[in-house]
Amino acid sequence: MDKDGTWCEGLCALGFGFVEVGTVTACPQNGNSGRRIVRLARDRALVNRMGFPSSGAEAVASRLAGPRRCPAVGVNVGKTGLVPLDDAGADYRASARLLAPYADYLVLNVSSPNTPGLRDLQAQSDRLASLVNEVREELGAAPHPVPLLLKIGPDLQDSEIDAVADQAIELNLDGIVAVNTTVSPTGLRSDAKEVELAGDGGLSGAPLKARGLEVLERLYERAGHRLVLVSVGGIESPEDAWQRIMAGATLVQAYTAFVYGGPLWPYRMNRGLARLLRDSGMPSLQMAIGATSSRGPVDTDLTSPDSRKPVLAATRHT
Ligand SMILES: Cc1cc2nc3c(=O)[nH]c(=O)nc-3n(C[C@H](O)[C@H](O)[C@H](O)COP(=O)(O)O)c2cc1C
Repeated sequence: MDKDGTWCEGLCALGFGFVEVGTVTACPQNGNSGRRIVRLARDRALVNRMGFPSSGAEAVASRLAGPRRCPAVGVNVGKTGLVPLDDAGADYRASARLLAPYADYLVLNVSSPNTPGLRDLQAQSDRLASLVNEVREELGAAPHPVPLLLKIGPDLQDSEIDAVADQAIELNLDGIVAVNTTVSPTGLRSDAKEVELAGDGGLSGAPLKARGLEVLERLYERAGHRLVLVSVGGIESPEDAWQRIMAGATLVQAYTAFVYGGPLWPYRMNRGLARLLRDSGMPSLQMAIGATSSRGPVDTDLTSPDSRKPVLAATRHT
């Protein structure tokens, strides 16, 4: 939502524990023109075809370099539209070089449906490997260790999700953000005419809830504590967030529910989560991570020198 890092502090003041800025592209670009976000109110959903409007990595980096009062800021980077897919590695790498010094974690967005070809980066394992290796090399030169995560979409087949989880571990990624918007929505309540008028793009919000949970459960089953899992997609209520944490999410995010819920939404979420935590009898949210999964809770030893620490630390503020 905060494409250019212009309102992290305002969002945190409303109650968000962290903000993920982006998607930021290496070169400045306008994104798609015309009407590019549409509400499907009966579905509590949005259709968007933003196409990564970004003031570019250099401008965003200089903004994030200033003083800030936000517990944690992740930065999500994506491919500049005009850059061919074969050159994606160098493009993401340029963004990583500029932004990593100011990021508590970095996300490689390989799942937006609004940049042609981008999703090949998540589906083709050789492309993904070379992208991650190139960015990793760059991060090796960053002033502090920056956890590197991958953002995947909900439209991958289940077997592809397993394969991405395996590859993420193999590539030494720190985690996965799941899920991006869908281009294959099912069971919408809005009438067909309204959906058609909304036009092409990725669908977010309540219709993503079931798939968002399913993908998270699958990832946690497959990777357990070896990956930090950030769950997003259709989270609307404290109960939804609690369910994701219990299913293995270390962090939870939302976009569409905030658009519909308004400025008090994060406050209501925090109050509700605090109540659910109290009712559970658990001493902290960290103890709840993965508690209902068949694998059981993660090892949340924040003193261990593993690279998940900075991301895990962000949860202390949520
Ligand atoms: C208007 C809009 C713009 C978005 N832009 C981005 C983006 O630039 N990068 C990205 O990784 N995800 C983007 N997303 C996807 C969201 O981050 C999130 O993954 C998705 O909307 C599902 O969460 P939700 O149901 O809480 O909205 C966008 C979503 C919306 C609605």
